[in-house]
Amino acid sequence: MKLKEKVAVITGGNSGIGFGIAQELKREGAVGAIFGRTQKTLDESAEKMGSDFIAVRGDVTRMDDLEKLYEETAERFGKIDILVANAGGGVGAGTLGSVTEVDEDAYDRMADLNLKSAFFTVQKALPHLNNGASIILVASIAAHKGFAGMSVYSACKAGVRSLARTFSAELIDRGIRVNVLSPGTIDTPVFGKMGIPADEAAQAKEQFKSLIPLKRMGTAKEMGKVAVFLASSDSSFVVGEEIIADGGVVNL
Ligand SMILES: NC(=O)c1ccc[n+]([C@@H]2O[C@H](COP(=O)([O-])OP(=O)(O)OC[C@H]3O[C@@H](n4cnc5c(N)ncnc54)[C@H](OP(=O)(O)O)[C@@H]3O)[C@@H](O)[C@H]2O)c1
Repeated sequence: MKLKEKVAVITGGNSGIGFGIAQELKREGAVGAIFGRTQKTLDESAEKMGSDFIAVRGDVTRMDDLEKLYEETAERFGKIDILVANAGGGVGAGTLGSVTEVDEDAYDRMADLNLKSAFFTVQKALPHLNNGASIILVASIAAHKGFAGMSVYSACKAGVRSLARTFSAELIDRGIRVNVLSPGTIDTPVFGKMGIPADEAAQAKEQFKSLIPLKRMGTAKEMGKVAVFLASSDSSFVVGEEIIADGGVVNL
């Protein structure tokens, strides 16, 4: 067990990639908290995680909810060793579209969830992190390619990639390493939350799939395996780096 009794917090740990990460961290011995807004998926995920994990309900775009997450985690487990800022993705209608289509409100909602929340998820955690902690920011291959209709999301994820470098420089004296996990197309509920009709979402999923040299989508479990590497001492000399786990889309 590579993470025995390490305390982990996973935002968006109640679905998709975040849940896959939570499960793999637990498999390696971690305890801790998952965080999200939906009570139903929180309850279902908490039951699967077992008694070594708590589920905290809240919104990563709300500062008081983030503070509550860290306070409740500290109360139960003490200081945090692994922070996974994973919550993100779609924010409903109007946020995907060309540069001529996205309005200011849609831009703000997308940026609040996919960039601003990553910044404050880390900032609010700092008093509760152990020195030597590992922070994993979940970005996307969208930071590396031009996918039409995804400009705001992609720019936010490129911003997240940048945060890992600067945060690492600022936190290195505490031995805190900040790295990025950038998934390619992973089979999760995210495609149903894009704010576009179901048939268009299914079409988008197929289109993304057709770009993958490995000829299949990735799994949340595979993302969890990468997170275990970044969370553990196996990656002790890896700082401010990004692992792209995408079946070859960006590099082949
Ligand atoms: N799936 C992919 O192909 C793919 C590719 C590249 C990158 N990613 C990134 O991977 C991450 C996870 O995505 P996923 O595919 O696993 O999608 P998902 O299954 O929809 O999971 C998203 C998670 O984030 C949580 N979340 C969303 N908004 C939140 C908010 N305001 N406050 C707190 N939690 C919030 C959701 O829980 P609630 O809704 O209950 O709050 C859910 O647990 C995202 O950052 C996404 O951008 C995904």
